[in-house]
Amino acid sequence: MTNRKASRRNFLKGTALASGAALLNPSPLWGIAPQGERIKVGLVGCGGRGTGAAVQALAADKGVVIWAMADAFQDRLDSSLANLLKSDDQDRVDVAADRRFVGIDAIDKLLPLVDVVLLCSTPSFRPAQLAKAVAAGKHIFCEKPVCVDSVGYRSVIESVKIARAKNLTLVSGFCWRSSSPERAIVGEILGGRLGVVVGVTSTYLTSPLGTRPREAGWSDFDFQLRNWQHFNWLSGDHLVEQAVHSVDKINWVMGGRHPTKCTGLGSRFCREDKPEFGDIYDNFTVVYEYENGPRATMIARQQPNCYNDNTDWITGTKGYAWINGWAPTHWIKDYDGKTLWSYPKDGEAPNMYQVEHDTLFKSIRDGRSINEGEFMADSCLMAIMGRMSAYSGRQVTWEEATTGNENLTPPSLSDPMPVGDAPRPGSTTSGAAKS
Ligand SMILES: NC(=O)c1ccc[n+]([C@@H]2O[C@H](COP(=O)([O-])OP(=O)(O)OC[C@H]3O[C@@H](n4cnc5c(N)ncnc54)[C@H](O)[C@@H]3O)[C@@H](O)[C@H]2O)c1
Repeated sequence: MTNRKASRRNFLKGTALASGAALLNPSPLWGIAPQGERIKVGLVGCGGRGTGAAVQALAADKGVVIWAMADAFQDRLDSSLANLLKSDDQDRVDVAADRRFVGIDAIDKLLPLVDVVLLCSTPSFRPAQLAKAVAAGKHIFCEKPVCVDSVGYRSVIESVKIARAKNLTLVSGFCWRSSSPERAIVGEILGGRLGVVVGVTSTYLTSPLGTRPREAGWSDFDFQLRNWQHFNWLSGDHLVEQAVHSVDKINWVMGGRHPTKCTGLGSRFCREDKPEFGDIYDNFTVVYEYENGPRATMIARQQPNCYNDNTDWITGTKGYAWINGWAPTHWIKDYDGKTLWSYPKDGEAPNMYQVEHDTLFKSIRDGRSINEGEFMADSCLMAIMGRMSAYSGRQVTWEEATTGNENLTPPSLSDPMPVGDAPRPGSTTSGAAKS
């Protein structure tokens, strides 16, 4: 997390430089007292996470008003709004009918109306949405993953740079970075408690996510978007969509170093044979290699009725560390088994999702921008290169993943949108699902 120590004057000046639009139509945040003034928030992607993020935004700052909402589907927007209107802070949910926007480009109408945007839609759209939000000079909460392919990664990196130049706050949805026990143990590791980190083994073993059968009147696009988690072009596959949380922890404990290359395996054994299960794999194992020897292994599975686990095992030259966020257990031992450090059982553990929003709105109130863009993008690219390697059966280098032309978005979103078979390592040449 980068705390850029800009003065309030510089922060506002930076915001002024943000875009021509901001200069012509200054954000209401300009010139406000640090506390007290209303902050208009727009939600893009009104699903489970988006609704949760809006609740957390409301709880983070008494000046926050949920002011506009956008979703691809009317029913998703309506149910999210209904839930927000039942929340503790319902009196600050003020989304008039003409500030509810539907369609995949609905963000375009929302952005001019708000000060802060919560980007919580389907991942494939995130690079374009982030670029638009940054161009409009908005402060941003950006859910993970932020991209699903190489082209998206480069777009995000560009947006991150522009956001920094404009002193916009950009908080990522990699929520473990806002979890006190994880912050404490990673702080110990990065501070050298383990010596040099030489290996990491991370797991994300869980069950398949839900599906929605096709309904009359849906286009192919509607059907795929309703089941977006299961379509590679929309989600990036479950390594990128879900297990990326653990890939991010690998990136974190490795100090943000880029792996030089990776070798991935994966397959699809247990997805039921029905269209809503799309084209993605149900298991991955990826070994990331770093300069001078360290390796990190990511094991991810979405299969029913199996052992579930979400842990990180970090080995160093002086000892080893164990992170189990679900337990929660966090400790470091030496090779004689002596505990060198552990997170106290009664240690503080505030809700990490709430902390993300507390951080976002405090940064806006204080006029000190935060930009979490680089790790947010890099962790996603690590997951993407793992998928590229697993799909193709090739080793994939960081260089190839950053410079490659992989773009998963189909050329047309009109019917028919055929779904190919799951990729076959050895014969799938690109990282894309359809070879
Ligand atoms: N940080 C976490 O722990 C966590 C947890 C769950 C989900 N997520 C992430 O949050 C995002 C949303 O996940 P979810 O579980 O809420 O899914 P969801 O399906 O419940 O919600 C996604 C919503 O986005 C809408 N949408 C799709 N394309 C859109 C577009 N172009 N413009 C506006 N809206 C659009 C969908 O219609 C849907 O309502 C995903 O990226 C997911 O990976 C993060």
